[in-house]
Amino acid sequence: MQVSMTVNGQSRTDDVEPRLLLVHYLREVVGLRATNIGCDTTSCGACTVIVDGLTVKSCTVLAAQADGSEVTTLEGLSGKDGAMHPVPAAFHSEHGLQCGFCTPGMVMASIGLLKDNPHPTDREVREGLEGNLCRCTGYHNIVKAVLKAAEAGAAAGTVGASEVSA
Ligand code: FES
Ligand code: FES
Repeated sequence: MQVSMTVNGQSRTDDVEPRLLLVHYLREVVGLRATNIGCDTTSCGACTVIVDGLTVKSCTVLAAQADGSEVTTLEGLSGKDGAMHPVPAAFHSEHGLQCGFCTPGMVMASIGLLKDNPHPTDREVREGLEGNLCRCTGYHNIVKAVLKAAEAGAAAGTVGASEVSA
């Protein structure tokens, strides 16, 4: 079957198996490898991407279900001038990663969190990211990074998911 969608601002149409998961489509068909597969069972959040403005665990969605959608992955966060998006920038400055395996999903989930709640408390960040697991258990600095991104986003107004693929 054919699926058409916009991935990180670029429109594309591909022939896929009807059973192909969105995460496999992104990694193997589109060639975007930042989105990781940690569990394949909707548990870890490593595969989180943004579909039509909502965070989605892409191992839970068929590529066919994303037909006609706008999809944003970690690779789509840089602006045209190459500037780092405030959320990954905050993960960098606050050391919000250790092995980095959970990080793409954490970043995308954090963008969704901040879109819904631009000024979260520490507790709200922890609750908002409860669907994303860090096997290095680096949660403390991840929370610090999201709080820092909230500050930066509040100043720059650039943490909304509608702007991530700009
Ligand atoms: S790989 Fe999708 S939730 Fe773990
Ligand atoms: S930094 Fe290693 S899994 Fe989170």
